[in-house]
Amino acid sequence: MSLASARAVPPYHGFARIYDAVTGDAMLPAIWRAFRRACRHYRIRFSNAADLGCGTGAFLACLARADRRLYGVDRSPAMLALARQRLAGLGVTLLHQDLADLRLPEPVTLITCNGATLNYASSLAGLGRIFRRVHQNTAFGGWLIFDMILGNGRPARNGHRVQRISLPGTSARWSIRIDPSGRGSVVDMTTAGLRADGSWDVVRETHRQRWFLGDEIAGLLRKQRWTVLGTSKLDGGVRSQGSGGWQQFVAKRD
Ligand SMILES: C[S@@+](CC[C@H](N)C(=O)[O-])C[C@H]1O[C@@H](n2cnc3c(N)ncnc32)[C@H](O)[C@@H]1O
Repeated sequence: MSLASARAVPPYHGFARIYDAVTGDAMLPAIWRAFRRACRHYRIRFSNAADLGCGTGAFLACLARADRRLYGVDRSPAMLALARQRLAGLGVTLLHQDLADLRLPEPVTLITCNGATLNYASSLAGLGRIFRRVHQNTAFGGWLIFDMILGNGRPARNGHRVQRISLPGTSARWSIRIDPSGRGSVVDMTTAGLRADGSWDVVRETHRQRWFLGDEIAGLLRKQRWTVLGTSKLDGGVRSQGSGGWQQFVAKRD
């Protein structure tokens, strides 16, 4: 099997099959702990909620209860397919949308966005647009809880490393670089997955993440009529060379 013959696919198309094993399962405990802490601290109660960039649906599975209407939004069909399997019978509505054009079936009391999903916004303007759409889809007085990897104010030096991953039925090679601006990462992933007929499906996808400063994010939130109530460091799971750490934000809709 040659990784050189890989066909280009959108982000998460190939990664989806190993996402939980490689990343998702490691991040979830820290995300869930921080979420529960925020709910206790700010006395957050909700009967409807949306999880943006829901991925394989693990966080929604934790939220699911018979008396809640829940929505999961993601732009990756491969991730949504896994979420659909995991959430079958739990009454969660999954929506294939880009966050820049978010349109929920109803305004919700709580919006979450976990696992550094918003680091995929490529510019401050793009991130601002998402905050605006989130505001438009949240009920008055509603809550926004999300986490991001922050920049530390200094451009990171241009390093390069390669990571190889080998799991039953899948092997992957990640080429990880700092982006030329020094304020984000670029990961080229080549994933080989074993098909049912014994042949290999080899795909290549690029993940670009941008690290914004905490003050830039707070400024954008205020501009889009969110009051930032608090931020706190998340621990474990996410490590990114040259970034300023992994942070949770809790905001309330004006
Ligand atoms: C790092 S994963 C996080 C998944 C999940 N929230 C978790 O914590 O494990 C990022 C997810 O966000 C989705 N995503 C990234 N940018 C998006 C966008 N602009 N619109 C919709 N989904 C997006 C990706 O497809 C992927 O499923």
